Amino acid sequence: MTSYTQIFENNKRWIEQKKGTNADFFEHLAKDQNPDYLYIGCSDSRVSAEEMMGLGPGEVFVHRNIANLVTTIDLNVQSVINYAIRQLKVKHVIVCGHYNCGGVKAAMIPRDMGLLNPWLRNIRDIYRFHQEELDAISDESARYDRLVELNVQEQCINVIKTAALQLSFQEHGYPIVHGWVFDIRTGRIIDLNIDFEGILEKIRHIYDLTKK
Ligand code: CO
Repeated sequence: MTSYTQIFENNKRWIEQKKGTNADFFEHLAKDQNPDYLYIGCSDSRVSAEEMMGLGPGEVFVHRNIANLVTTIDLNVQSVINYAIRQLKVKHVIVCGHYNCGGVKAAMIPRDMGLLNPWLRNIRDIYRFHQEELDAISDESARYDRLVELNVQEQCINVIKTAALQLSFQEHGYPIVHGWVFDIRTGRIIDLNIDFEGILEKIRHIYDLTKK
């Protein structure tokens, strides 16, 4: 375990290392940000967005919460999405879940979780949407993995439901929405290859927000 004071030592080393490869690193960093990616992932300490993608400061706009949910009344995630798309003009939105997600696990067990109830309810609803498929999987860990994937898929749809996404895609042809699962057992990023344009087209009937 890293001690609290060690963190500041690490920080000093990190600064030296960054300046070692590029003397103007922090001057450059302080100027502006122009990331191509918005990453929406789980708060889980084992899933570190930039590190697993091999990206550095300035390259990815990050939002994390328990079980990587994009809910319509969460002003936090909705503000992040709006800012990233309308102001930063990101080219890709990534929703990244992970196997062994405690939030998804908790949602699979029907019991009172206090303050977490309304949050987990979003995942329980996804289970209900896909109950037939999920209940047909007899192996519990395979069912758990599948719910992680379905949750990512549904959160991608929730991003696609936003006016910011729809208007930007109509005007510029970006951002593209991607669904990933981080396989915590191997370190691999799995692209679920969601049919972004197919979903956008399919939900238009109900969720089209491009018209005034
Ligand atoms: Co998680």
